[in-house]
Amino acid sequence: MKILMQKNRRIKNEADMLAFGRKLANILSVGDVIALTGDLGAGKTTLSRGVILALCGETDVPSPTYTLVQTYDAPAFEIWHCDLYRLERPADIYELGLLDAMEEALCLIEWPERMGGLLPEHALTLTIGFEGEGRQVSFSGSQDWMKRLEHV
Ligand SMILES: Nc1ncnc2c1ncn2[C@@H]1O[C@H](COP(=O)(O)OP(=O)(O)OP(=O)(O)O)[C@@H](O)[C@H]1O
Ligand SMILES: [Mg+2]
Repeated sequence: MKILMQKNRRIKNEADMLAFGRKLANILSVGDVIALTGDLGAGKTTLSRGVILALCGETDVPSPTYTLVQTYDAPAFEIWHCDLYRLERPADIYELGLLDAMEEALCLIEWPERMGGLLPEHALTLTIGFEGEGRQVSFSGSQDWMKRLEHV
């Protein structure tokens, strides 16, 4: 699959990161896998909160740091919010049930690097970098993703 990179988007504060997540939610659906990469404190959970709030109306979205997974019910599908920082081996995602969830739910995955090669090719990767007091988000994914992102 051809991987393309879209130009970066600057996001100046936490409120804008939440707003970006809410906009991104408009184009997300079941079977989508969103890989969120970036250092500790980059804003991966904040962005996820925006998506989950938009799709479920849920405002209480704790970081799944220790549970590894938190699930939410959107009207038509489940959302899996994962933080794999503490995953010991890539193969542990089988036990978590994440392989099935990536087909049957919408998955937002922090620290996807921990999955090694088990991250599906059709995932959209959002890389969050620090820029001054704000952040910069870059997108990488298939041409199909780039088309969908035109609406975000
Ligand atoms: N665009 C932004 N500009 C400035 N600060 C931001 C932005 N987005 C999020 N933050 C702030 O960054 C901090 C860390 O955010 P968050 O917990 O979402 O990071 P994370 O990437 O999930 O970290 P971890 O790797 O520990 O899970 C929070 O205090 C949040 O308010
Ligand atoms: Mg986090």
